[in-house]
Amino acid sequence: MHIHPQRYKEVQKMCPPDGEKSLKDMRDEMRFESLFAERAKKMRASEIRELLKVTQQPDIISFAGGLPNPESFPKGIISEIMKGVLDSDMASRALQYGSTEGLPELRDVILKRFEERFGYKGDRDNIIITTGSQQGLDLLGRIFIGSRSHIIMEAPTYLGALNAFKFYNPSIHTVPLDENGIMPSLLEEKIKTLHRRGETPKFLYTVPNFHNPAGVTLSLERRRELLEIASEYDLLVVEDDPYGELRYEGEHLPPLLSLDKEDRVIYLGTFSKVLSPGMRLAWAIGPKEVIKKMVLAKQGVDLCTSTLSQVIALEYLSGGHMDKHIPNIIELYRKKRDLMLSSMEESFPEEMAWTRPEGGMFIWVRGPEGLDTKELFPYAIEKKVAFVVGEAFYPDRSVKNAMRLNFTNPSDEDIPVGIKRLSDVLEHFLKERDLKRGGEEELIIGV
Ligand SMILES: Cc1ncc(COP(=O)(O)O)c(C=O)c1O
Repeated sequence: MHIHPQRYKEVQKMCPPDGEKSLKDMRDEMRFESLFAERAKKMRASEIRELLKVTQQPDIISFAGGLPNPESFPKGIISEIMKGVLDSDMASRALQYGSTEGLPELRDVILKRFEERFGYKGDRDNIIITTGSQQGLDLLGRIFIGSRSHIIMEAPTYLGALNAFKFYNPSIHTVPLDENGIMPSLLEEKIKTLHRRGETPKFLYTVPNFHNPAGVTLSLERRRELLEIASEYDLLVVEDDPYGELRYEGEHLPPLLSLDKEDRVIYLGTFSKVLSPGMRLAWAIGPKEVIKKMVLAKQGVDLCTSTLSQVIALEYLSGGHMDKHIPNIIELYRKKRDLMLSSMEESFPEEMAWTRPEGGMFIWVRGPEGLDTKELFPYAIEKKVAFVVGEAFYPDRSVKNAMRLNFTNPSDEDIPVGIKRLSDVLEHFLKERDLKRGGEEELIIGV
């Protein structure tokens, strides 16, 4: 694969960053531009999102999405529950508006499950049902972030959180991860630096279990350390945990929420990865004052989360289906993770390093310095395989040599084929550019 500059341009055209615009599109853009609010003017389709459009072509094996596998959806049970609900006297309730806080019985069963699993004790005022955790993130942005606010995130971090918070225009500070999650000493250093400048971070946003995109998990020791630091510097912690139940090996670790003794953790949980993302159903548990403000903020957004989805989830949980079905999802995904890891072991160039997640949906891959995965992307598309370019997960786009691979959505047959294609592209690309792995001390994940 000789990479001639002209050829590169041709391949790159297959994934144009901004699509082709017609004269009418351009006229419409100008017509509305002067009407849009300043904050809307700043909203732009990300280049990465545009790149990802090509990954939806049917002949491409995509490791780019962040989607659960449709095989994991308990369609039969949902169908039965739905029919049962609509044929019963619950129907009127399921089809009516509900309270902004969410169905009280659903809040109760979620809290009960939390108490049974982790010993967390809270009451109905500690929990709000949201339209996906994505809405939880937006509500937190609404109530905490002003344009001169400072927040701390991990590097890399979840792209959806980055987008949700960026809308409120904070200064974003980052702390790197290693194979045991966020590095507490660097977190403390970051807080101290901010304090010296007279700035107080509004919160730390962290994904402690099977991180998206890094795949790593915060160790128990670090969970305790993190909370000690949070206590010392009076820091709020947003714990986003969509993957915690999807553990394929090892012991479950207690969430920060249940280890915290000072009411400083806001925990986000979701049904998206253990039931269905299409139901758009999630929850936030935290200090009552915070939940109260989230309720007020939500009233202006959607009045309430889909009552139909809430009633179905309530029946699903209280009928014991959730606990019965999660092991099936774990079995399905564990096999896919193992397939991807063994295929990578077999064929990835030795210059590449990657994480071995104990759960969740993602593997994080890092190449030698000088590798730019955005540059690599069009060649991968030409070979009919796709990934997400790593720089998307850094607020400052500073890391160029990384990529995120999803192993839950592709079929068992496609995983080894796609990994072989990606290996070939990497092999040629690294050789062509004469890129070698740096020193052993190089972090696989952090900045
Ligand atoms: C870390 C993280 N937080 C939140 C979400 C959003 O989840 P939901 O479908 O509940 O909005 C995702 C989805 O991929 C995620 O990876």
